[in-house]
Amino acid sequence: MNQENILVMNSITKSFPGVKALDEVHIEVKKGEIHFIVGENGAGKSTLMKVLSGIYPYGNYDGDIIFDGKIKQFHNIKQSVHDGIVIINQELALFPNLTVYENVFVGHEISKGSLMDWDETKKQAKKYLDMVGLDVDIYRYVSSLGVGKQQLIEIAKALSQNVKLLILDEPTAALNENDSANLLKLLVDLKKQGITSIMISHKLKEVEAIADSLTVLRDGKTIIRMERKNINEQEIIKNMVGREIDDIFPKRPIYKKQEVVLETVHLNSYDKSVNRYIVNDSNIKLRKGEVVGIAGLMGAGRTELAHSIFGNPKNYKISGKVIVHGKILNLGHPKNAIAAGIAYVSEDRKSDGLILDEPITQNITISNLKKISNSGIIDFFKQNQYAEKYIKDIGVRTPSILQHVKNLSGGNQQKVQVAKWLFAEPKILILDEPTRGIDVGAKYEIYTIINDLVAHGMSILIISSELPEILGMCDRIYVIAEGIQTAEFNIKDATAEKIMESATV
Ligand SMILES: Nc1ncnc2c1ncn2[C@@H]1O[C@H](COP(=O)(O)OP(=O)(O)OP(=O)(O)O)[C@@H](O)[C@H]1O
Ligand SMILES: [Mg+2]
Repeated sequence: MNQENILVMNSITKSFPGVKALDEVHIEVKKGEIHFIVGENGAGKSTLMKVLSGIYPYGNYDGDIIFDGKIKQFHNIKQSVHDGIVIINQELALFPNLTVYENVFVGHEISKGSLMDWDETKKQAKKYLDMVGLDVDIYRYVSSLGVGKQQLIEIAKALSQNVKLLILDEPTAALNENDSANLLKLLVDLKKQGITSIMISHKLKEVEAIADSLTVLRDGKTIIRMERKNINEQEIIKNMVGREIDDIFPKRPIYKKQEVVLETVHLNSYDKSVNRYIVNDSNIKLRKGEVVGIAGLMGAGRTELAHSIFGNPKNYKISGKVIVHGKILNLGHPKNAIAAGIAYVSEDRKSDGLILDEPITQNITISNLKKISNSGIIDFFKQNQYAEKYIKDIGVRTPSILQHVKNLSGGNQQKVQVAKWLFAEPKILILDEPTRGIDVGAKYEIYTIINDLVAHGMSILIISSELPEILGMCDRIYVIAEGIQTAEFNIKDATAEKIMESATV
């Protein structure tokens, strides 16, 4: 069968100061297919989708958008939505303080005369939530729901706007394995109903699983379009990074026991806002030169454990002890943790990681001002030199170290965040979802750095939802479920099945 194209983007070029983000990009998407856009961080994927959806308006780019057989010149996102193109960005756009049903129809309300028709709104909202398979009380506030559910509400909203082409920019980056699997299944279901989707993802297993076709972008250029029958991980990687990567987890020698550097002893954290223990009798040990993984489902209490150790920013009621290098750590403030040689790379780079309106230089060096100062005065030459070195080592794609972080692609922001804490030269590094949104090539670089750091005696705690990462990088693994430590594995005994089993109670 010769399927027709629902979308052609022809010779699209878009520049930002100092960066040609898209250079005559060409993509074709057939009606009813699931098309992926893949490429390294900064390759231009999100920019291309912003051009398509009118976030970057007509006149702001060169080239043509042909949708449903007609040339389109969208001046804003409303116009593209009107034509049936709906984009769901990684930063979800729901209103946390509105209910589920209000969120489905906010912006395109159902009215009866001059009044809102709430009965109809609720009825319709239920219908669309059913279509995405979300069974949730429609009177709940969106803020009380997890990311997985919020994403489904966004899709329900898209359906209520008669979507023909659904665009998802890294929808599974923040989802656990279960929610991700459900989302992929939903896309396949929607396809059967004739809805075309474009999806951006760094998780190549997903691409293999559901892509009908894909386009690889590299440095703002179209490299290749691949069809289902030719799609496999190795081929994608080769086209993405321009070389082969056999094993994305660089090898490390088998760990030889050294002294314990960090230990939690009957640590409990009680969260008053939800009235329960989110850390329940934690007893973990981290040794010198060791990489220890904390596995568990979303909401199991992994980040809460990190927060409890790292200065308790959420004000949990804590009992028990944390011992660092043999001394009891004062859990009252992050500065105590930092003084004890601990650094924490948070999972949320937006809210507590980076200063988006500042250049890369400041963001990296702020974690260790001493290192760039002479008698209390910042040496700007040194500061720039270090920033240059770190962005080179870790492969941050940017026209200059003076670029404001907000102008970097998602994955490159994450790399700056990692660089910032490496610059602090901590003895103990806690990494919370360190490679979320990071491309395979850069992951490899980060893993190589991790190996190098532990070889030099640093100890690293990795919290990750990606089991391959936990299995590929850790010497030892703890599993947490609902705040409780349910299992501990040496890497040689660990399997994905065993971890999943202990992660569900
Ligand atoms: N508002 C902006 N101002 C300046 N440069 C920008 C802006 N938005 C994007 N860029 C640059 O354009 C290039 C493409 O960025 P884009 O966000 O499209 O990448 P991406 O492929 O989505 O990457 P990622 O996988 O990291 O999300 C990058 O070099 C980025 O730094
Ligand atoms: Mg992006």
